[in-house]
Amino acid sequence: MLGKVFITRPIFPETVQELQQHADVLVNAEDRVLSKDELIASIQHVHGVFTLVTDSIDRQVLSAASHLKVVANFGVGVNNVDVNAATELGVVVTNTPGVLTETTADLAWAMLMSAARRIPESDRFVRSRSFQAWGPTMMLGHDVFGKTLGIIGFGRIGQAVARRARGFGMRILFHDPGRHEDLVRELGVVPAALADIYRHSDFITLHVPLNVQTHHLLNDDAFEAMKRNCIVINTSRGPVVDEKALVRALKAGKIAAAALDVFEREPEIEPELFEMNNVVMAPHIGSASYETRFKMASMTAENLLAVLRGQRPPNLVNVDVWEHRRT
Ligand code: 8YV
Repeated sequence: MLGKVFITRPIFPETVQELQQHADVLVNAEDRVLSKDELIASIQHVHGVFTLVTDSIDRQVLSAASHLKVVANFGVGVNNVDVNAATELGVVVTNTPGVLTETTADLAWAMLMSAARRIPESDRFVRSRSFQAWGPTMMLGHDVFGKTLGIIGFGRIGQAVARRARGFGMRILFHDPGRHEDLVRELGVVPAALADIYRHSDFITLHVPLNVQTHHLLNDDAFEAMKRNCIVINTSRGPVVDEKALVRALKAGKIAAAALDVFEREPEIEPELFEMNNVVMAPHIGSASYETRFKMASMTAENLLAVLRGQRPPNLVNVDVWEHRRT
């Protein structure tokens, strides 16, 4: 056996079985997020931990786990892990990039269309038996075809969103530190400053990682600069949007609508959002398709086992750690 492994939440039986073939595996028996004390107690003696976005793997947790060699995170975002602390302590961090790109881009589009054409609101209307007669101005929404889409963050997911947008004949602006000259040529996308994204976009979709630069990227000033018909879609991380500022912007009519798959203090949500019909919400389901979540779980297990075997994992986040990792 390669060592002891803890899985912080019940996951697919196939994944657990795969890990059990090579390691002594313990799974959190309860389908809930563990408290910090429970997490520390559970990983104190293990060599590998399989974590989710809801597990806060901070310096205190990492320091308490003196045998820990690897934090294998189920997800591409690693904002729930203190990667610097892990690197200092010689703990390898892995993630699951690539495999969830198309699924998350699909969801961003589903959210965009839902908000533009008021699908969830229409569904509520019909279910509440309010559809008594058809009307020519009933449930009017916003066209998508031919509009301008502003993509903030042009990595894998942002690019996959852009490819879909071409089918809708959209003008596509993107904001990203990279120049992406090949994609500018291939997709006809246009690099733009944030101010230009705000000024020209009918839809703004966020695909940045959460870090100090992107925290509250969309704040009062950003909403003020947007078009009044703009629809904002967030499938990245909640804290990229100042949720209170979003509520103010929606109430004041500074933007038309929002579609949110992620929230600033998940699972808590600004109460006023519940009352707004021009807000579409989902419980962080960007990658939640059967196929993709299963692939993410296999990838997480593969990363974890590689480290326990002393092999470089396929998806190493803190590359610097490798030379001075715990063995
Ligand atoms: C996951 C995600 O659902 O990959 C990410 O960063 O946000 C989602 O795909 C989440 O991380 C599950 O742990």
